[in-house]
Amino acid sequence: MDNFKRTLVTTALPYANGPVHIGHLAGVYVPADIYVRYLRMKGEDVLLIGGSDEHGVPITLKAKNEGVTPQDIVDRYHGIIKKAFADFGMTFDVYSRTTSETHYETASEFFKTLHEKGEFVEKVSDQYYDDEAKQFLADRYITGTCPHCGNDGAYGDQCESCGTSLNATDLKNPVSVISGSVPVVKKTKHWYLPLDKHEPFLKKWILEDHKEWKANVYGQCKSWIDLGLQPRAVSRDLNWGVPVPVEGGDGKVLYVWFDAPIGYISATKELTPEWEKYWKDPETKMLHFIGKDNIVFHCIVFPAMLKAEGSYNLPENVPANEFLNLEGDKISTSRNWAVWLHEYLEDFEDQQDVLRYVLCANAPETKDNDFTWKDFQARNNNELVAILGNFVNRAIVLTHKYYGGKAPAMGSVVEDFDNETLAQIDGIVKKVEASLNTYRFREAVKEMMNLARLGNKYLADTEPWKLIKTDEERVKTIMYVSLQITANLSVLMEPFLPFSAVKLQTMLNLFGVNWEDLGRTDLIPEGHEINKPELLFAKIEDEQIQKQLDKLEATKTANEAAAKTVEPAKDNISFDDFTKMDIRVGTIVSAEKVAKTKKLLKLEVDTGIDVRTVVSGIAEYYQADEIVGKQVNILVNLAPRKIKGIESQGMILMAEDADGKFVFIQPSVEVKPGSGVS
Ligand code: MF3
Ligand code: ZN
Repeated sequence: MDNFKRTLVTTALPYANGPVHIGHLAGVYVPADIYVRYLRMKGEDVLLIGGSDEHGVPITLKAKNEGVTPQDIVDRYHGIIKKAFADFGMTFDVYSRTTSETHYETASEFFKTLHEKGEFVEKVSDQYYDDEAKQFLADRYITGTCPHCGNDGAYGDQCESCGTSLNATDLKNPVSVISGSVPVVKKTKHWYLPLDKHEPFLKKWILEDHKEWKANVYGQCKSWIDLGLQPRAVSRDLNWGVPVPVEGGDGKVLYVWFDAPIGYISATKELTPEWEKYWKDPETKMLHFIGKDNIVFHCIVFPAMLKAEGSYNLPENVPANEFLNLEGDKISTSRNWAVWLHEYLEDFEDQQDVLRYVLCANAPETKDNDFTWKDFQARNNNELVAILGNFVNRAIVLTHKYYGGKAPAMGSVVEDFDNETLAQIDGIVKKVEASLNTYRFREAVKEMMNLARLGNKYLADTEPWKLIKTDEERVKTIMYVSLQITANLSVLMEPFLPFSAVKLQTMLNLFGVNWEDLGRTDLIPEGHEINKPELLFAKIEDEQIQKQLDKLEATKTANEAAAKTVEPAKDNISFDDFTKMDIRVGTIVSAEKVAKTKKLLKLEVDTGIDVRTVVSGIAEYYQADEIVGKQVNILVNLAPRKIKGIESQGMILMAEDADGKFVFIQPSVEVKPGSGVS
């Protein structure tokens, strides 16, 4: 191992403007919790730090939209997030928030120290200002057209369409989000962190001294450094945030990305008076668990801040993950395209471990990955239930059946295969450790499952249920070996499946086994009494999955409807133009699908004038047999057209709903076919 005495693990502070979703969990919280549980089981000194990030413009905009204060918004989501994490089994040593008093003090002090040391550059620059609202427009208070890709919903700090980071003055056609007016340019003063000054240090520290960082992390840092680092403004003209604590700071606050990472320090302070040991002693190893959109801030900006301050450690590693998508589409809080943790916990009661397992086994460690409900179901049913659950269950059930729940001693008949199987346990444990030590959690969980696979295969190969009639001594050996595998599994699985591990340890009546004991083949000695079996995992049925898919489908429909805007009115026409159209009420007398088409129905319509054929593109909305007898509006003097070889003599008038569905326009009471519409 290395020379560190203790470990400080931080997890990205989620913005308190929405609940936590599976993307957050897969990227940050599941791996961090696994890692910390593992270190704790090894008896190491480790802290897991978390909290809510409660500043930033999106929070103020949400508050404005809802007509409440930013504090109301963050109180609401901090509560939801904190509870969901606790119910999920996150083992934070502290879960704080950046509106806490300690945080305001800590962030102010940090800023003042840098200010006194001359670590900032002060600059007056042009900034957009809303003359109606009498307010400067920072970051997301301004939208316009992206100069790079032409997206016209780009924000003052970033275009989400092409990912470019922007300055508000780069935007074409800028508009104030507050009043909708065109902003004016005004001068304002801000404090800048001169990243250019720290470039030589960062270059060496990351590109030379930390070549072991994950390729995605190292690569992003390198491309930033290669582009040349620029000074970054660390203050904003806003009234929500930590006030700038120096002369000239009136009406200004610290930039959210300046104060938020200091939140890790504030939270540690709230947790323990010994906080400095964790932040300043070089024998502490600091790790930041984050998602890929946070890499630059944790690898370049925050380290530059810490370095400039002078008394803090820098992170030893930043094991950032890529993004998790949901059913092929980017997860989005504003579009409600997510699986929300607090909703999952309601829909899948007591099944925290299933989500933990799936998110770890499918974690976006090296590239973006997709979460699908079908995969969730398959991993539960085919892996947790069929492999792990099944093995454990057979071992425990058979021990009860053959020995009344009292563990046998190794029998007198032992084959090489039994010893080889026992010997494999330690190898698997070593692989799990090696993977965890290098932050390869997918690999680690797979190796852990290999121990269950080993047990399953051992039972399938030895078939004690057959041998019991002929060779009782050998069966004792087989059950002894199976119980040792089960005992090892109950400990090895704990970082990944903590709830199930406790259940299994309870079934085995086996407590206090430590991580160092793993690999031992005498964890369950002769005569040890085990408890009755219980199922560790339950099969997930199609209906449960369908319910989740339906929920997502409803979100999709609602989003499409919301995105659809009403068309502006067309140019005026004369009354004569209008009377040229001959619209009548007709009755559908027959309908059939047009062969080899998806959308077309061939209708016979009684127009009062005649019965005529009309081909209409409504097969997606109406079944042929359900519309016979219905009255519709029909334009009867539209020049006939051939559609799929059929002459269509008129057009049925339809209304298009927001979700793109077409419906008939019908008279409100039945009228005589041929009645004119005017
Ligand atoms: N709130 C940020 C996000 O969700 C993460 C902040 S991490 C911290 O992207 F270090 F700044 F706290
Ligand atoms: Zn763009």
